[in-house]
Amino acid sequence: MARILVVDDDTALLDMARVLLERQGGHEAVLSADGEEALAIAREDPPDLAIIDVMMPGMTGYEVCRQLRASPETASMPILVLTARGQPVDRAAALEVGADEHVAKPFKMSDLLERVNDLLERGATAARTRIVVLLGLRGGVGVTTLAVNLAATLLREGRDSVCLVDLCPSSGHVALQLGLRPEPNWKKLASIATPDADAVAGVLMEHRSGLRVLASPIVPVVGEGLPRSTVETVLGTLRERFEIVVVDTPSVLDGATMAALEAATNTWLVMAAEPASIQTVLGTGRALGEQADTFSVIVNQAAPGQAVSPRATEQVLKRRLAGNTPFDPGQAQALARGQPLAFGEPDSPLAKAMNGLVKTLI
Ligand SMILES: Nc1ncnc2c1ncn2[C@@H]1O[C@H](COP(=O)(O)OP(=O)(O)O)[C@@H](O)[C@H]1O
Ligand SMILES: [Mg+2]
Repeated sequence: MARILVVDDDTALLDMARVLLERQGGHEAVLSADGEEALAIAREDPPDLAIIDVMMPGMTGYEVCRQLRASPETASMPILVLTARGQPVDRAAALEVGADEHVAKPFKMSDLLERVNDLLERGATAARTRIVVLLGLRGGVGVTTLAVNLAATLLREGRDSVCLVDLCPSSGHVALQLGLRPEPNWKKLASIATPDADAVAGVLMEHRSGLRVLASPIVPVVGEGLPRSTVETVLGTLRERFEIVVVDTPSVLDGATMAALEAATNTWLVMAAEPASIQTVLGTGRALGEQADTFSVIVNQAAPGQAVSPRATEQVLKRRLAGNTPFDPGQAQALARGQPLAFGEPDSPLAKAMNGLVKTLI
């Protein structure tokens, strides 16, 4: 039995939904005819799923969705929206605000119950999935290296479904570190407005370890990389299929990066212990506000020697470091061979540090 919030200004529909969900579905229905009130109910005691009508006077259903997705306690709650029409643009609008499903009005009550039960089942998988996003706006601080080694460590630890996503439009570096030629890559998805699960599955590569990879193209993209809405759709699809999704982001807060940060269950902010990187981390905090407070800051030593000690770094940043990954002289060889240290040399300093980080952070 699930607790389901139904939001619609049409009280006749609310009554029918209650009968359907409670008598036929064996669920508990919580009803609201007003968006503001529904938000308050959802925040106070998050339901297992919400059914939200789009067309409502006052706060629209889209706005309710957006706000639910923005609150941590309801960010991953399954949402089904009821749209007035069933056009592709209605579906796109629903996905854009973070809904998982949409049903066009009018609909058969039995169909609605089927979709609700489906979504509850899928939502349970999606809710278990972790999306770990690695970000470092300084560039060259080791975001890609840590993303690749994190994914490799998770796989070695026995997580059986791990997907590594390279959102950087600058020449397929994730694939390079894995010794793969990035074909296919996400370039094909960029031209599709809302790629479905088959389209996404069609561009995933499989590394011999079993790791799935969504690579970026080897020829750098001129202009922006993947559009924000495409990244939202792609991560939504991967969330349903994998236990863990690791995302390497470009060193800019573009649409793709912002979509990844919104979908993230964990964000690792990677930096170097040197002034430019410290300034960048402080600036990232100012750009993203409270969202940045939840990030785990990791100092990676991409080059030998550290200009600023970890303690001094913490003092300047006024926050604790979540981890410290050492300079590993084997990394240059690992990159040249296309074999991440976490796969090829599990006893190397970087692979060991990664083991520790995974235990504390995931
Ligand atoms: N811990 C480390 N030890 C040694 N070399 C590293 C380490 N982390 C990163 N590097 C190297 O530093 C360079 C930049 O790393 P990369 O992951 O591409 O950074 P970013 O993705 O942030 O631009 C690469 O040559 C990489 O092999
Ligand atoms: Mg990189």
